[in-house]
Amino acid sequence: MDPVNRLQASIDNPTAFWAKMASNYYWQTKWVDNHTSYNFNLQKGPVFAEFFRGGRTNISFNCLDRWVMAGRGNQPCFLFEGNDIGHAYVMTYQNVLDEVCRVANWLRGQGVVKGEAVTIYMPMVCELPIAMLACARIGAVHSVVFGGFSSDSLAQRILDCQGKVVITASATSTLLTLAVSALWAVQVQRVLCLEDSSVPREACPWQPGRDVWWREEVAQRPSYCAPEWMDSEDRLFLLYTSGSTGKPKGVVHTTGGYMVAAGVTCRYTFDMQPGDIYFSTADCGWITGHTYLAYGPLLNGVTSVVFAGVPTYPDASRVWSIIEKHKVRIFYTAPTLLRSLLQMGDHHVKKHDRSSLRILGSVGEPINEHAWTWFHDVCGEGRCPIVDTWWQTETGAHMLTPQPGSWCKLKPGCASVPFFGVQTVMLDANGNEQDGPGEGILAIKSAWPSMARTLHGDHDRFQATYFAPFNGYYFTGDGCRRDEDGFIWITGRVDDVINVSGHRIGTAEVEGALTEHAGCAEAAVIGIDHPVKGQAIYAYVTLVDSTRHDDKMRKELMDHVRRAIGPFAVPEVVHWAPALPKTRSGKIMRRVLRKIASGEEKELGDISTLAEPSVVDTLLKLRGV
Ligand code: WT7
Repeated sequence: MDPVNRLQASIDNPTAFWAKMASNYYWQTKWVDNHTSYNFNLQKGPVFAEFFRGGRTNISFNCLDRWVMAGRGNQPCFLFEGNDIGHAYVMTYQNVLDEVCRVANWLRGQGVVKGEAVTIYMPMVCELPIAMLACARIGAVHSVVFGGFSSDSLAQRILDCQGKVVITASATSTLLTLAVSALWAVQVQRVLCLEDSSVPREACPWQPGRDVWWREEVAQRPSYCAPEWMDSEDRLFLLYTSGSTGKPKGVVHTTGGYMVAAGVTCRYTFDMQPGDIYFSTADCGWITGHTYLAYGPLLNGVTSVVFAGVPTYPDASRVWSIIEKHKVRIFYTAPTLLRSLLQMGDHHVKKHDRSSLRILGSVGEPINEHAWTWFHDVCGEGRCPIVDTWWQTETGAHMLTPQPGSWCKLKPGCASVPFFGVQTVMLDANGNEQDGPGEGILAIKSAWPSMARTLHGDHDRFQATYFAPFNGYYFTGDGCRRDEDGFIWITGRVDDVINVSGHRIGTAEVEGALTEHAGCAEAAVIGIDHPVKGQAIYAYVTLVDSTRHDDKMRKELMDHVRRAIGPFAVPEVVHWAPALPKTRSGKIMRRVLRKIASGEEKELGDISTLAEPSVVDTLLKLRGV
């Protein structure tokens, strides 16, 4: 079958496609033949999705044991590159399996049982995916919290998932967090800490009896741990993400479907073959690191670079030097990194040999044409296709992407076509499916294996967020445009979610953090275009005391957000707003705020519905103050 027909056939009959794919993995018990069922229609009862019903497997077995048993135990699994040049080492598949088993045995020793949550808060070192795989080995549900989140955010997530064990590193601020707060000390019974040699032990606020060192504790455990055979629909992990309202949501992913989609998307989008060298700059704190660093590459027997450094240290050529050193074949990164490197000049790229590269990938936000062309022409020497992968924490794996085969046209900045077996549709504002070229809302019509099954502890919110807006469809939150060729272009979020350097953050969360500050009466946050970050956070703040419109107050507010959420959520701009533009019913007119922020006050549009039109003039006067 030619590739286009093959893609269409998989979309017409996803169940058959996924069953065929799933048979490439090891199942301790095979699934039943009609393995899928789902409901997206709220009128017909609760939303659910189920894949590979009756099947039992273990993802760590498929990632590790399978390759060791096939004679690939000595093949490198992780190629570690630290921040300092020369701080590098290799872990083979056998090494990783042994360490995963030791950590798994340690976890079992703490009484961690199948289904129980374990929080992981670590920098991007090999032990992070190892800890994830160790949880998966025994059926514990990992919840990785990105190392850039503050201790408050970490604490909130630990409380929500009720985990009693935390795995961390002395390079992070966890121990301090846990020590200062009596509340978590009650709940968290054990902290496994990976020692960072640059942080003296005395500097760690250690709690004897609760806190233990990884190297001391894990080394003593046996290097084999029998995998827990998990039902296909048993939970694999939780990952918290931001939405347009309320507190972060614990997105739940399950075992079988996620495993198959992670493996298969790597196989096709990146054309991965066992032994390939792959480099992703993703962090396991986000979904990209889960699917395209921890799980997907290992499911394909690939060797992955694990880079724990800063891409501009010692200079802007670092990633290209890694690509040369390890002869990387597939390189997957984010537009924000490309835009920051692009500014520093082509010589950083060109001084390194990139002839090993075959496929380039982009993820996390729309990639502008300039960055795309630079990536394609300069970095990839014009010979490597760019796969611009659109997907989300909730989708678990690629949903839209060009296919790297020559039959698929490459269009700069275009997420292109659905992945095999994925039924995407474009809806109008009333929820009607649109055919042909045009603009609309991107939705998904039927279940796919790696879709989120629920939000931890809140199935109502899951339904309300993703299925109620357009009953019968999964609502992505993104707008899209379809061109003459049927290719799909992502136009950005249609809800109150901002994408800063590929990090998703809800405006409501930043507003909540600002208003927690005693001096802040009200706040309204919007996203504005930013040349490197894609979007930046722009905050309008109403102070309790307007005589405090000064830089000191600004700094206090920014520090407050840093503590409440993390450095990446700190507003780029704080614009004083003695009052906010509101409708007579009290709704903030964000459209007006966006125009003022971007200097387009001439195009404010209809402001006759404003309760107090003079607010606009006041805001314009205070711009840049
Ligand atoms: C949101 C999901 C997907 C893993 C990293 C982010 C935006 C993601 C693209 C792309 C345009 C993209 C969307 C999406 N996004 N990839 N290739 N082109 N936009 O995961 O934190 O769950 O964010 O990121 O707006 O909804 P996330």
